[in-house]
Formats: sequence, C-alpha cells, structure tokens
Amino acid sequence: MPFAFSGFNIDGVDISETAVNRCKEKFAELNSNNNLVNSDLRNYDIKNDNYTLIIIANVLNFFKKPEIDLIIEKTKTGLQEGGMLYLSVFSTLDPNYKSSILSRKQVEKNTFCIEERDSNVHYFNQEEITKYFSDLKLICMYEGIEYDGGHGSPHYHGVIEFIGERKRTLKIIISAASYAKVLFNVRTLKRFCEILKA
Ligand SMILES: C[S@@+](CC[C@H](N)C(=O)[O-])C[C@H]1O[C@@H](n2cnc3c(N)ncnc32)[C@H](O)[C@@H]1O
Repeated sequence: MPFAFSGFNIDGVDISETAVNRCKEKFAELNSNNNLVNSDLRNYDIKNDNYTLIIIANVLNFFKKPEIDLIIEKTKTGLQEGGMLYLSVFSTLDPNYKSSILSRKQVEKNTFCIEERDSNVHYFNQEEITKYFSDLKLICMYEGIEYDGGHGSPHYHGVIEFIGERKRTLKIIISAASYAKVLFNVRTLKRFCEILKA
C-alpha cells in the first residue's frame, strides 16, 4: 500500500476476492496504473525480468514444498537485474510451531496439516531461506518474534524477513573504443569498479 501511495505502479495478486476488492477500494483515489488480480499465486504468470521489487508477505507458509519451489523460482526470474525481493514468512520460532509438533500431523518436514481449515502451514528456518536465495545478494535477514494485532485475538508469530537483490550483469560500452584513451587515475578507476560491482 505505501508503495502505491508513493507513486509506484503495482501488480497485486490474491486468491481472495474480498482482499482484492478491499485493495481496489483503497487504490481508487490514486491516478496510477495499478493492476489488482484475483488469482491463485501458484498459477499466476510472473513476467521475466520485469519487477523492481517483489513482495511476498506471509503467504508462502500455506504451500507445500513443490509449490514453494515453483513460486520462488518464478519470483527470482521476475526480478529485473538489481531488483529486490522482500519476503516475510512464519518461522520455527513461532509459538504455533511448537504446539503443532505436539498436536498436528506433519505432512512434510516442518509442514503441518490444519484439518479444520483444510490447509497446511510450513514453518521456515534461516538455513532454508539462505539456500533458496543463495543466488541473490543478501541485503538483510531478520528473525524474531513479532506481535500480531491485525486479526483475531492479539497473538505472536515467529517471523523471518529477508531482503535480497538480483545480481546485475556488468556490461560496459566504451564509445569510439578503438581511439579512446580513458583518462582515469588508477585510484579513481579502482573505486569506480568497486562501486559498479557493489
Ligand atoms: C496472512 S495473509 C497476509 C496478507 C498480507 N500479505 C500481509 O502480509 O498482511 C495471507 C494472504 O494470502 C492470500 N493467499 C492464500 N493463499 C493464496 C494463493 N494460493 N494465492 C494467492 N493468495 C493467497 C490470502 O487470501 C491472504 O490475503
């Protein structure tokens, strides 16, 4: 939401029609090209090399491993070079993780069946996130226990937040290269290369 109000064009996807309509109402006053779609993320086509920022907040937990693999792969290829991913997931620090171990059926490692909602919940750890995103440049990763007063009775979640950047390919064009005597002193040139690689 803050990104839309800051003037970015947003593509948004949610499986819930209610969530999409609520978003549309909030965006109605904006004069921008936002595109809010009622769709299942698993089937949603993410265009390659397209996004400056992709946000996946508190949704990956509800899928099983093959679906998580697929969504993460689509997400990474959807980033422009230098584009950023913000990810937030429930982690094994979540109080529900400990109770799930005792009371729920484990369908995959750290994935539990929530029979009353006919769904699953997976709790991530930092090692898993690091492995999934080893090809992105790590900007930051945080794990902690956060208060959630947004729905139901107030409660806590263990969360991992991750920000990563798709690496850029370094390509340089030198105009009139065959004649160019590039006038850098060595220290400036070294610093310039460091900045370009950062
Ligand atoms: C816990 S809420 C998080 C909402 C928001 N991203 C946030 O962090 O406040 C999970 C959201 O994921 C949506 N969702 C669940 N399964 C989905 C799916 N298969 N495809 C797209 N959205 C899904 C739900 O409708 C819900 O809006």
